[in-house]
Amino acid sequence: MKASTVYDCSVIELGSFASDRRGNMSVVENGKTLPFDVKRVYYVYDVPGGEERGGHAHRSLYQLIIAVSGSFSVTLDDGHIKRTFLLNRPYRGLLVVPGLWRTIEDFSSGAVCLVLASSEYDEDDYIRDYDSFVNLKING
Ligand code: TYD
Repeated sequence: MKASTVYDCSVIELGSFASDRRGNMSVVENGKTLPFDVKRVYYVYDVPGGEERGGHAHRSLYQLIIAVSGSFSVTLDDGHIKRTFLLNRPYRGLLVVPGLWRTIEDFSSGAVCLVLASSEYDEDDYIRDYDSFVNLKING
């Protein structure tokens, strides 16, 4: 966990099939789009204005975070440097590697935060205390 930094994360362009008047479609496929296979999908919605989600790190989980509707900002923190990404397009996803503290805020009205994750839910994978997170980043 110690080694990952905010620079290991990036926005992936998923592209979109937008060729006709029936609307648009974006696709994520295991083995093609991501450096992990998707084992779990969840989505966060109806977040009241001013609320914040996240506020934790993962020991080994990889995630792709997509604003499938509306917008929000994701701030990543490796204990040293913070980077904030505004997600506001359904054809872009933020790849988040393990070992980073994340907060998600500034949800627009109607925003839907879709998360594709590399593992099934495991509370033991979470680090929910910021000081413990920083300590783990420094001391392993
Ligand atoms: P959490 O990951 O802390 O939410 P967020 O990062 O969006 O603020 O999860 C909130 C609650 O939902 C927590 O009690 C655990 C539960 N949960 C599951 O049971 N399964 C899941 O796949 C996820 C993501 C959360």
